[in-house]
Amino acid sequence: MTEIRTLTVLGTGVLGSQIAYQAAFHGFAVTAYDIDDQALEKARSRFAHLAGIYQAQQVAGAEGGKAEAALQNLHLTADLGDAVADADLVIEAVPELLELKRDLFRRLSDLAPAKTIFATNSSTLLPSDLKDSTGRPDRFLAIHYANNIWVQNIAEVMGTSETDPTVFDAVVEFAGNSGLEPIEIKKEKAGYVLNSLLVPLLNAAASLLLQGVASPETIDKTWRIATGAPSGPFQIYDVVGLTTAYNIAASSTDVGSLAFAKYLKDNYIDKGKLGISTGEGFYTY
Ligand SMILES: NC(=O)c1ccc[n+]([C@@H]2O[C@H](COP(=O)([O-])OP(=O)(O)OC[C@H]3O[C@@H](n4cnc5c(N)ncnc54)[C@H](O)[C@@H]3O)[C@@H](O)[C@H]2O)c1
Repeated sequence: MTEIRTLTVLGTGVLGSQIAYQAAFHGFAVTAYDIDDQALEKARSRFAHLAGIYQAQQVAGAEGGKAEAALQNLHLTADLGDAVADADLVIEAVPELLELKRDLFRRLSDLAPAKTIFATNSSTLLPSDLKDSTGRPDRFLAIHYANNIWVQNIAEVMGTSETDPTVFDAVVEFAGNSGLEPIEIKKEKAGYVLNSLLVPLLNAAASLLLQGVASPETIDKTWRIATGAPSGPFQIYDVVGLTTAYNIAASSTDVGSLAFAKYLKDNYIDKGKLGISTGEGFYTY
């Protein structure tokens, strides 16, 4: 079976930095690529910040200086050819723009060795949307992480009908070896498993609020007490961030979603209440 030892992550933003650091923490040799020196400077501080979080939150294994030592496993570069020259696996975590991702995979198909597996971490695109630009659809699939990877530690692995099953298995094994719970998805599905469950819950909560059926506090309390879940949907909105919630709702054609977008804008976004990140959203922190 293909064994994954070296990882390259493209894009070192919110998710890319977490994917790279998590693998480095678990002993993988990781190369992190971003577009220029300024982006790499930001990446350095993101990695240092993550080391602090792993240490402070006592992520399993973080004792004895391991969180700091993980930084030694991270090599940063703004040269794409250099970044992928010896990669067993490349995961892209660049902005959610179809043509940008396609263009990146086209360039990679020339630069990466034949052994390299390509993966996307896209939340909303299907791997089928990208596979033809990779030049190697049999060695291409999605591995989708959740934000705050060290706590919400799942990796949803989803191939296309053309993904080689041995490649799928290798990526599942890699996910397990990098401290994540692999979620094997047998068939392509927009939203994977997590968002296929979560989005309808969040939409239903928004609808109850807009119809005046119950307050956010009551809706959340109902969900928490009756299901044993630690958070209700409006607490989840605050974690995701109300700007993201707004962008998703505003880009929909559904009347209810558009009404929720307006509600979020008027009552929260325009007042600078963006969720936990600003100290106030549906709740005050
Ligand atoms: N943020 C989340 O909660 C989350 C969760 C799961 C998956 N994702 C997915 O991860 C991907 C990235 O999202 P994010 O929130 O980390 O974005 P982000 O904007 O925080 O980071 C994007 C990074 O990509 C870099 N970049 C831009 N153009 C590039 C290029 N051509 N080549 C290489 N790097 C480039 C940027 O400099 C930046 O560092 C998206 O596909 C998104 O759907 C995000």
